[in-house]
Amino acid sequence: MDHFQLIDGVMRCEGVPLAEIAAEVGTPVYVYSTATMVRHAEVMRAALAPMPDPLIAYAVKANPNGAVLATLARAGLGADIVSGGEYVRARTAGIPADKIVFSGVGKTEAEMAEALKNGLYQFNLESDGEAETLSAVATALGMTAPVGFRVNPDVEAGTHAKISTGGAENKFGIPIDTALAAYRRAAALPGLAVQGVAVHIGSQLTNLAPLEAAFRKVGALIEQLRGAGLDIAVADLGGGLGIPHNPALPDPPSPEDYGAMVRRIAAGWGARLVFEPGRLIVGNAGILLSRVIRVKPGITHPFLIVDAAMNDLMRPALYDAWHAIEAVAPRGGKMIANVVGPVCESGDTFATARELDAVQAGDLVLFRTAGAYSAAMSSTYNSRPLTPEVLVDGDRWAVVRPRLAVEELIRAENVPDWLI
Ligand code: LLP
Repeated sequence: MDHFQLIDGVMRCEGVPLAEIAAEVGTPVYVYSTATMVRHAEVMRAALAPMPDPLIAYAVKANPNGAVLATLARAGLGADIVSGGEYVRARTAGIPADKIVFSGVGKTEAEMAEALKNGLYQFNLESDGEAETLSAVATALGMTAPVGFRVNPDVEAGTHAKISTGGAENKFGIPIDTALAAYRRAAALPGLAVQGVAVHIGSQLTNLAPLEAAFRKVGALIEQLRGAGLDIAVADLGGGLGIPHNPALPDPPSPEDYGAMVRRIAAGWGARLVFEPGRLIVGNAGILLSRVIRVKPGITHPFLIVDAAMNDLMRPALYDAWHAIEAVAPRGGKMIANVVGPVCESGDTFATARELDAVQAGDLVLFRTAGAYSAAMSSTYNSRPLTPEVLVDGDRWAVVRPRLAVEELIRAENVPDWLI
């Protein structure tokens, strides 16, 4: 459930009309609902509550805005981070060090040292080489790094190829079949405290079966590792649960279904469970608000040219992702259109032959499910300044990332002396 509702002809985010935000901030603009984020955090917490002290580490990559992170920190979530930058963001937003897990296949020595010095719950290592590097970094600092290995369970996640991560051919994790040897090597290295196992097989999963298969393999591995004398106290089950976004498709499994499945598989593990949801928390807590620039005739369907583009929301171009598109003030009636942005690429297409509310030049439209991997993945391609972001909380709202003028983008660059 989200808090973007059309009531009496007025589309609001919580108590705030979207037209008011568009009038004051301009378009395109991302709008986030505090109530939706907090609700999703609560639903996830409730679904996992029967397990002892689970750590819900929000995947910062989904939406790293400081106000979003501060909201989720207040809601009690930790953070799953994949870079030094995300570490700084998480701590700046008030997320405690002991709720931070550090994932990612390419952590650098500098990133390892920063996280170690400032504290974290666990590094999820992805190779022998990474274990050796972290051992050297920790030893040089006179510290001990808490670690787990991310294992690759070789499970087909059944999602888009570009967001599948648990197949043997993917770059992620160590092969689960040879994990014992990697654990033994790591346990023998100085400066590492081996404590956990981690897994993450992909994103926007709409079927629990691949997750269940992966978790069963993790359970078997924990037994094997303990049998070999390793003290495994933590099992990080990653993120990946899909969210509803297209009313024509069946809803994905609910957090309750997910929680029940996890309990069934992991109840006897005697390990602290960690979860890394990203999309589930913020995906449907955000929309992209945009204005129709003009409607241009096309061979089969008109082109609805909006002022948002692939640089603002690249999911349709990158993954053929489907985002609901609706009028903010429906005039009545429907149209079929190709919805496109102003960027100079044919890939700058949000929807093809889409039936949507009939709209005209000047009308506002919104793209739903734009709270995750949306502003986070935006760029300034075509010298379009990053889209501003707004956070709504009840009847109040604030710009949480302002629109930068193109002059500010230019000022951040240097033209060498010889060109002046
Ligand atoms: N943990 C790890 C180690 C991850 O790599 C990810 C996402 C997550 C947790 C969070 O997954 P979630 O619960 O959000 O599915 N840009 C793509 C999604 C990329 C996901 C990358 N990893 C998209 O827009 O669909």
